[in-house]
Amino acid sequence: MKRPLSIASLLFCIALTVSLSAQTTPAPAGTTAPTAGMKITTDAEFSTHMKEIQQQNGILNKAIKGGMAEEASKAAARLEVLFKNIHGYWSAKKIDDATTAAQNIVTSLQAVQKAVAANDMAAAETARASIGANCMTCHTAHREKLPEGGFRIK
Ligand code: HEC
Repeated sequence: MKRPLSIASLLFCIALTVSLSAQTTPAPAGTTAPTAGMKITTDAEFSTHMKEIQQQNGILNKAIKGGMAEEASKAAARLEVLFKNIHGYWSAKKIDDATTAAQNIVTSLQAVQKAVAANDMAAAETARASIGANCMTCHTAHREKLPEGGFRIK
C-alpha cells in the first residue's frame, strides 16, 4: 500500500513548484501576466499592467543611458505591448484624453525602437524623455490615491 503516499507526495511537489514559480511572475493572484492584444476587463488587470509598466520604464531608462541597445529595444517593445492594451482600455470607454496619452506613449516607444535599431542612442533618449509627461497627464486626470495606500482608476 505504498501508492496513496507517493501520489500525495507527488501532489505536494507539484503544489510547491507552482507556488514557487508564482513568486517569480509579477502578476498578482487571480491575474495573468499581460499578453499582446489582451483586453483589460478588471481593475486588477489594469493594475498589473501599470506595475509592469513602472518596472519596464525603469529598465528602459537605465538601458538607454547606459548605451545597452539590446536591453533598451526589449524593454521598449514590451512597453509598446503594455501601452497598446492600456490604449484599448480607454478607447473602448471613449475617454479621449487618456486614449491620446496612451497613443502618444506608443508613438514615442516606436520612435525609441527605431532610434535604437539605427544605433542612435541620443535620438532614443529624446524619444524616451517625451514619455513621462503623458504618464503624468493621465495620472492627474484618471488616477486617484487611496487613503489606505495604492491607487484606483477615476
Ligand atoms: C492612459 C492613462 C495612463 C497612462 C498613460 C499611464 N498610467 Fe499609470 N496609472 C493609470 C491609472 C488610472 C492608475 C490607477 C489605477 C491602478 O493603480 O491600477 C495608474 C497607476 C499607476 C501606478 C500604480 C500601480 C499600482 O496599482 O500600484 C504606477 C506605478 C503607474 N501607473 C506608472 C505609470 C508610468 C511609469 C506611466 C508612463 C510610462 C504610466 N503609469 C502611464 C493610468 C495611466
